[in-house]
Amino acid sequence: MSATRPGHKPKCKRCRNPAVVQLHSHHTAFCRDCFLLYFQRQVQRAIDGERMFSREEPVLVAVSGGKDSLALWDVLQLLGYRTTGLHLNLGIGAYSVLSRTKTEAFARERGLPLLQVDFGAEGHAIADVVGLTRRPACSACGTAKRHHFDRIAMEHGFPVVATGHNLDDEAARLLGNVLRWDMNYLARQSPVLAPSHEKFARKVKPLFRLSEYETAVYAFLRRIDYVIEECPNAAGASQLLYKDVLQRLEAEMPGTKQNFVLEFYRRARSQLFAGNLEAPTTCSRCGLPSHRPVCRFCSLLDEVAAKRQGVRPLAQTSS
Ligand code: AMP
Ligand code: FES
Ligand code: ZN
Repeated sequence: MSATRPGHKPKCKRCRNPAVVQLHSHHTAFCRDCFLLYFQRQVQRAIDGERMFSREEPVLVAVSGGKDSLALWDVLQLLGYRTTGLHLNLGIGAYSVLSRTKTEAFARERGLPLLQVDFGAEGHAIADVVGLTRRPACSACGTAKRHHFDRIAMEHGFPVVATGHNLDDEAARLLGNVLRWDMNYLARQSPVLAPSHEKFARKVKPLFRLSEYETAVYAFLRRIDYVIEECPNAAGASQLLYKDVLQRLEAEMPGTKQNFVLEFYRRARSQLFAGNLEAPTTCSRCGLPSHRPVCRFCSLLDEVAAKRQGVRPLAQTSS
């Protein structure tokens, strides 16, 4: 929501009732009901326009307990899709406990099915991985998350995994990829990632047209109870700096983020990488999609296991 001139009461562009939200990038304002309708239509447009999934296909929704993924799960339900949630308990102290509690409460209140994976029980709680390997938390965490999204989708027969990445996430990621001219990552940045084999799931981002601000307003208006705290490992992450820079540009030039991301998808990406997309093969260990012979996740587990053996006391190793 943005500040309005004193005495100036904006009206909903659709129904002329008093507006509760102004969207500068779209030069528009909406009342509650019309905003919710606008949000649903943007999601439907993303799903249909990018051929993400059909109404018959069961969708595995990756839910962190934050506003984006809970808003995504909520809107997909309202639009009539068949959804199951997947929550990964990352093992990041109190933050993970709260994330799990909010996700479970959301699923319970709506009677929605929820699958869970516990990183601690799997032997790679993020707090331990970071302590043992000194890898940046976000990179190890991202690797492990992608692995379990693929694994659970395959084991439970889901053809599609939906994540809550929004326009701001996509813009920050695009900016980072452009600043490094990372052609591999640029080629793979897309609202829909097709699988290399039909047994694997496609990855889709139905919120990619909607800003972080819009998903926050949606979550608020739909009374979704989500985790407000950021992951404690996110502080200082370059993504946050990119988001901040983009937000400052957006404040001066509304619509910047939208043009940056949507035009990359609509025009630049296809021209830059037409026919050039390197398809992933499969990891020789876990059999899931990978761009290397042994995937990043299996390499990470190797490193964790080696470090654990390395620090094990002699009394234990000799027994
Ligand atoms: P992030 O990588 O934290 O920006 O999250 C991006 C998206 O990944 C979220 O919108 C979720 O769809 C998914 N995600 C992140 N963390 C989790 C988690 N702990 N469990 C399930 N899905 C997650
Ligand atoms: Fe994975 Fe923060 S959510 S390290
Ligand atoms: Zn692997």
